[in-house]
Amino acid sequence: MDKMKIIGGKKLNGEVSAGGAKNAALPILFSTLLADGEHVFTNVPDLRDIKSAMLLLDSFGCETHFANNTLKVKVNKIKTIEAHYDLVRKMRASILCLGPLLARHKKAKVSLPGGCAIGSRPINYHLDALTLLKTEHRIESGYVVAETTGLVGDRVIFDMPSVGATENIMMAASLAKGVTIIENAAKEPEIVDLADYLIKMGANIEGAGTSIIKITGVDSLSPAEHSIIPDRIEAGTLLIAGAITGGSVKVNNCDPTHIEALIAKMRESGFNIEAGADFVSVTETSNWKAIDVTTAPHPAFPTDLQAQYMVLMTQAEGSSIVTETIFENRFMHVQELLRMGAELSPKTRVCIVRGKKGGLNGAPVMATDLRASASLVLAGLVAEGETVVNRIYHLDRGYEKLEDKLSNLGASIQRIE
Ligand code: EPZ
Repeated sequence: MDKMKIIGGKKLNGEVSAGGAKNAALPILFSTLLADGEHVFTNVPDLRDIKSAMLLLDSFGCETHFANNTLKVKVNKIKTIEAHYDLVRKMRASILCLGPLLARHKKAKVSLPGGCAIGSRPINYHLDALTLLKTEHRIESGYVVAETTGLVGDRVIFDMPSVGATENIMMAASLAKGVTIIENAAKEPEIVDLADYLIKMGANIEGAGTSIIKITGVDSLSPAEHSIIPDRIEAGTLLIAGAITGGSVKVNNCDPTHIEALIAKMRESGFNIEAGADFVSVTETSNWKAIDVTTAPHPAFPTDLQAQYMVLMTQAEGSSIVTETIFENRFMHVQELLRMGAELSPKTRVCIVRGKKGGLNGAPVMATDLRASASLVLAGLVAEGETVVNRIYHLDRGYEKLEDKLSNLGASIQRIE
């Protein structure tokens, strides 16, 4: 298994570009099942999760082709409505094929995704909402078996603004009879990007990006072309990489309005952040204050940047409290950071961070999930000596060539096959 070796202590300086958003590309890829023909996407990141989604689409009888961050999906007559366990277990987002399969083919058999390191990841909001749209389903040997005589629009109110459930229902409702209203919908930029693509295919959707989305079903959709929005989590991770090393880094090809909560926190902490139309930059800062953070649905601070922000606070002056409200077990990085000398006191949903500049020492550490692995790389950038991050296949799920991007900024980092 690949590892990442980092020698800490180098200031990062220069310019770097964010790639396309994994969490926009994945639902958009599954939305292609709503319309036969060739769909073309640009600014698609080259990631393991994208490859997993391609394998699943191919298993349905689609023909996918990826080159130079352009992905073509030719949707032909469907071969099967089953999303097999071996493919789904690699990537939970595969559950996003449920809505499109039901909308287009009136049945679906999708393996239950199963939990992952950060939590149990239930799909009750997805299933309850699809039931409202006249779907019947049962759980059969680890699969959701669902069918409908034809989806019919209804009012769906989510207990929590679930990203995946909002996406599944938006896709399903696009071809349902009548109008569907989603209340307490997720408002993430990736929801807006999916809606933009569905509208390009001919869907009738209003309100994406707000907590009330109205979808008026249409008879059919047609394939289109689309450029995926920039990855706000990668952009935030790269910004923190520059900040934590005390360097000056400019992240291009990103949308700073997608990470306003992070920018506000970093400014409050004492960083000089400049935000332009398609870039965000941090200039050299030697001391910054500890500032508390609580993760919550967009536009609040994103859970996917919690681990990275925690590492930044290990180098701050003072103590901060990191509160994780989205996932029940998203402090897997804490144990590894403790091994590097961080002064952390984790509770269930809260972790106290006692800042101590220069308090991290390089060590062999273990990646447990995608964003935790990114936080361990960030810790390695400022730790004294050598850090080796094991199991970086987690990192490869969501970051394209991170080691190249960081070494181009001056980091001493290399991948060990
Ligand atoms: C999406 O996951 C993202 N993944 C996650 O990014 C991200 O952390 C998460 O949204 C929150 O922003 C993709 O977009 C592919 P949710 P999703 O449904 O859709 C509970 C990354 O690192 N819940 O908004 O699964 C759930 O357990 C990944 O790129 C239910 O209880 O997130 C969680 O506690 C990690 N029942 C909370 O809601 C449900 O039916 C938010 O989950 C669905 C969710």
